[in-house]
This record gives sequence, C-alpha cells and structure tokens, in this order.
Amino acid sequence: MLVSAKEMLIKARDGKYAVGQFNINNLEWTKAVLLTAQENNSPVILGVSEGAGKYMGTYDAVVGMVNGLLKGLKITVPVALHLDHGSFEGAYACIEAGFSSVMFDGSHYAIEENIEKSKKIIADAFAKGISVECEVGSIGGEEDGVVGAGEIADTAECKQIADLGVTMLAAGIGNIHGQYPSNWAGLAFDALADIKKSVGDMPLVLHGGTGIPDDMIKKAISLGVAKINVNTECQLTFAAATREYILAGKDLKGKGYDPRKLLGPGFEAIKTTVKEKMDLFGSVNKA
Ligand code: 13P
Repeated sequence: MLVSAKEMLIKARDGKYAVGQFNINNLEWTKAVLLTAQENNSPVILGVSEGAGKYMGTYDAVVGMVNGLLKGLKITVPVALHLDHGSFEGAYACIEAGFSSVMFDGSHYAIEENIEKSKKIIADAFAKGISVECEVGSIGGEEDGVVGAGEIADTAECKQIADLGVTMLAAGIGNIHGQYPSNWAGLAFDALADIKKSVGDMPLVLHGGTGIPDDMIKKAISLGVAKINVNTECQLTFAAATREYILAGKDLKGKGYDPRKLLGPGFEAIKTTVKEKMDLFGSVNKA
C-alpha cells in the first residue's frame, strides 16, 4: 500500500540520511526502482512529472500500475507515489487519482501567490493523508520544458512556506536539473545552513541529484536534506546500457529484438544506479 512521504522523511531527518526520489517513466523503470528498494530494505519515493504522467497515459494508469506492482511483487518497504514539480491543477488531479504525495511548485509565482496556493493544497491534501512538497527559489536547468534559472532561495520566504506546515520544502541552493556544467559553482552550503536555521525541523529536499559529487551530497544531508531527487542519472545509465546492447548487435541475434530482452540491460542499469544512490544517501536498511 502506498504511504505518504511524511513519516519516512521525519525518520530520515532524525537519522541523518536521505530518502531517494527516483523519477519513473514506464513499467520497467517502476519495477526496477521498487525491486531495488525491496532488496535493500529501503524506503523510496517514486517521482512522476506531469510530462511523465502524460507519457504513461493518465495519472490513473500510473496509480494502477504502481499499486499492481506493490501487490504482485510483494513490496513491503514504504513507498510514496509523488507528483514532481506539479502545477496547481496537476496537484489536484493527482490527489484525486490516488497519489500519496504531491509537489506543488509555485516557485515561479510571486511569494504571496505561492503561499496562497500552497496553503490551499496543503489543507486539501492533508485532509486525505497526502504529503505535500512546496518550493521556494526555482531549481535551474530544464525539466519537461520547465526552465529554471537556478536561484538561491530567500531565507525569509522559506520560513513563510515552512510555517504553513508543509511536509517538506525544496529550496534552491544553486542546484540544477540535468547534468552540471563544468563551471558549476557547487551547492551553496552557507545558504543551506541559513535556510535550515530559519525553517527548524522541516525536512529539506535537494533536487537535481544527478552529478552532485558524493561529498556534497553527504554535507547536504548533514545540513538537513532528507529527500534527494534523481532523474537524469537513471536515464543516462539506461540509455548507455541499451546503446551497448544494440551496438554489440545483440538485437539481431536470435530473439534479441524481444523487448523483454532488449530492455533488460537498461533495466539492470537502473537497478545498479538506484542501489548506488541508496548506499550514498544512507537509506539502505532504513525501511
Ligand atoms: P536530475 O534529473 O538532475 O537528477 O534532477 C531530478 C529532479 O530534481 C526531479 O525533480
């Protein structure tokens, strides 16, 4: 059964580790992430962007697929199904469809409007036991056509959103989605420490987990990050493994064209990446 992200993040915050959010795109992705979480006895958050939701058909289809896999694969570790970077309307659609967690990304609105919309979603989601993530200071890079400039969140604004009682807060600290440019300045740890001081106990979320050096990940966790989002890295390792299979001509041998074979190496590559991240984030055996 899907659970809200609240309890797993409170445990992570108190235990000084982070729960990974791994974005899913299809059945193979979802199965790979769920099986890896179960094998490593780790809590996990399945992230679904609005674009990925459309790609998979409908939010209802996503909920049906995930619930079916939880039951059929006998997944017993805590799993949250979370809308990633949702719009106001998208958040309500996922609440209706049966997601157990939603992100409302109001970072592109003026803070007053972000607060007003966040407040409404928090009240309506909490009434159904659904956790909520809100964002202050847009995350840089491009994700599903949403382009952010990579801001450092304003500390006072973080406190205003945290004071609404949101479950977890994503605050920009120089992180960006996708691969980091070679001249990236790194995470702004001073800003992270200031934000943490102003929001107290609030579990913080680090987006753009792909390509952040291990030592920075560990430092971010020590400063209050309890959830880390990873998307691009699974896409890269999946693509590399699939490319290798095809370049080796394996799709042309026997029934190597069968999708159950063709997608096998990519599936295993996602599992390996997810396990590496769970080890790094410290969530192994924390279910
Ligand atoms: P990456 O694609 O950089 O791993 O970021 C994922 C993310 O933050 C999803 O919200």
